Amino acid sequence: EKGGYEHFMLKEIFEQPQTIFDSFRGRLDAEQLRVTLSGLDSISDKLLKARRIIIVSCGTSWHAGLVAEYIIEELCRVNVEVEYASEFRYRNPIIDENDVILAISQSGETADTLVALETAKKQGATIFGIVNVVGSSIARLADAGVYTHAGPEIGVASTKAFTAQLVVLQLFALRLAQLKGTISDERFKTLIEGLAKVPEQVDWILKTQKATIRAIADKYRGSSDFLYLGRGYNFPIALEGALKLKEISYIHAEGYPAAEMKHGPIALVDETLPVVFIATQDPFYEKIVSNMQEIKARKGRLIAVVSEGDTQAAELAEDYIVVPQADEILAPLLSVIPLQLLSYYIGVERAVDVDKPRNLAKSVTVE
Ligand code: F6R
Repeated sequence: EKGGYEHFMLKEIFEQPQTIFDSFRGRLDAEQLRVTLSGLDSISDKLLKARRIIIVSCGTSWHAGLVAEYIIEELCRVNVEVEYASEFRYRNPIIDENDVILAISQSGETADTLVALETAKKQGATIFGIVNVVGSSIARLADAGVYTHAGPEIGVASTKAFTAQLVVLQLFALRLAQLKGTISDERFKTLIEGLAKVPEQVDWILKTQKATIRAIADKYRGSSDFLYLGRGYNFPIALEGALKLKEISYIHAEGYPAAEMKHGPIALVDETLPVVFIATQDPFYEKIVSNMQEIKARKGRLIAVVSEGDTQAAELAEDYIVVPQADEILAPLLSVIPLQLLSYYIGVERAVDVDKPRNLAKSVTVE
């Protein structure tokens, strides 16, 4: 049932061209320039009135929420807050019937998320679920929602569910922006055509970069710490890359917004520290390159995820992985793929049971 793959995690990473496609199939029409999300349309009055959208989730789903914050604010011009469910539920949050809560959960059973939503619902908020498991508790609690179509995720570390969440969140932002009139036809067209191309781009990464990523894993597997840095839409991907590495290799890793490193983490940098930069072509590129120079000057070991055709970042780095060029809003869907694979191969090299890492459960049904 692992389909010839050594682990579920690897199978699920390689399923992503299909699961990404499945998550927009029937919802995105690149020819008619249309995004259809009936769940969203069913609460459109609430969404159009809402002064803010609050995203509530945990772990990897929280990282998807952070990406969504950047996308929804940019495209829909509405304030978005992203909350850890466990913090949100205990701090007596100020919520009323004008609030829309976006709940993101693979399992639909995460206890902290579920209780946070129950509390918000009692206070009058509208709950919109982005859930993978059909009929799960969070899906049932939500007033409306959209399922991600990642299929069953067996590996404890979330991979394909995360990219499916990103797709649905992008569709959500596109549809809401259209309803609000905050997106031009041209931008809308660029983004949906771009999204339609993502499955083949992910496939390209998996096929052409696998050997490089394996070699990088082999080279750095003995490191005791990693730093992951990114900016803008790729900042949450730095967090996700670090989380994946911690979970399945037991190596300590931290993700940071690249510019924030000067405010502390740079003290960690020496000739033993691998620093993974997400340095794809986007408006932050020049800034990222200068952050890379700062690390290089302190002898950190640079590993970069760069866009096809890159020169500067690839040249600065000791090792690099290439991803296709994409609009900055879609870029996280591509840049996360090599980081998942890197963690996978490092975990395997360190003989970790990558499908069932110690101390972790697939769904966290206790707080
Ligand atoms: C990380 C991971 C966890 C989950 C978190 C939320 O790889 O799998 O961090 O993302 O426990 O779970 P869901 O999305 O099921 O609510």
